[in-house]
Amino acid sequence: MSDDPTRVREFFGVRAADWDSRFPDDGPAYAAAVSEIGLRPGDAVLDAGCGTGRALPPLRAAVGPTGTVLGADLTPEMLTAAVRAGRGAPEQDAPGAGTLLLADVGRLPVRDGALDAVFGAGLISHLADPVSGLRELARVVRPGGRLALFHPIGRAALAARHGRQITPDDLRAEPRLRPVLAEAGWRLVSYVDEDARYLALAVREG
Ligand SMILES: C[S@@+](CC[C@H](N)C(=O)[O-])C[C@H]1O[C@@H](n2cnc3c(N)ncnc32)[C@H](O)[C@@H]1O
Repeated sequence: MSDDPTRVREFFGVRAADWDSRFPDDGPAYAAAVSEIGLRPGDAVLDAGCGTGRALPPLRAAVGPTGTVLGADLTPEMLTAAVRAGRGAPEQDAPGAGTLLLADVGRLPVRDGALDAVFGAGLISHLADPVSGLRELARVVRPGGRLALFHPIGRAALAARHGRQITPDDLRAEPRLRPVLAEAGWRLVSYVDEDARYLALAVREG
């Protein structure tokens, strides 16, 4: 589903309250994916489309207390659930793992090159204009910084969960994703699509 912001909000708004209880065992998969980004203490990282903030605690653990963790989502109910789960708050230095931004990842209130990395779980299929969204993520990451596109299950397993089959035009398929990333300023450096996870890692071109 790639969709406009209003439909994304409607879709996820009604799912926010029980989002975590639908996927209670995903925590270790998020932690494992975050460990592959190569974050260091003091780094600045954004969870793009953070939802209820499931990735925020491992991101905070990776960058430590001197690092910066931002979570951006355009569905207010998702951010409310993140606050309720104790994973973040809207103000800087607030309790929780990260600072939450009610924002479209296609238009972020973040300086050029301010971040070392972006993590995006379950995000890109929902972007109305993937090249433009990924270009905005490239804008806020320094040259050499990283992008991790993750899902706790692979494309085939996810399609089966929804009673569908994967199609060749799927944006997350490597042959489609690689040129889309390149157009947006990213170089795909590693790609895994297996039942137990989907993880595409890219580097911000200079
Ligand atoms: C499948 S959910 C994944 C949530 C979270 N990353 C996780 O792994 O649990 C996708 C999330 O992306 C958000 N989203 C979709 N398009 C967005 C956009 N353009 N800007 C910001 N957030 C967006 C939705 O509101 C939703 O919370």
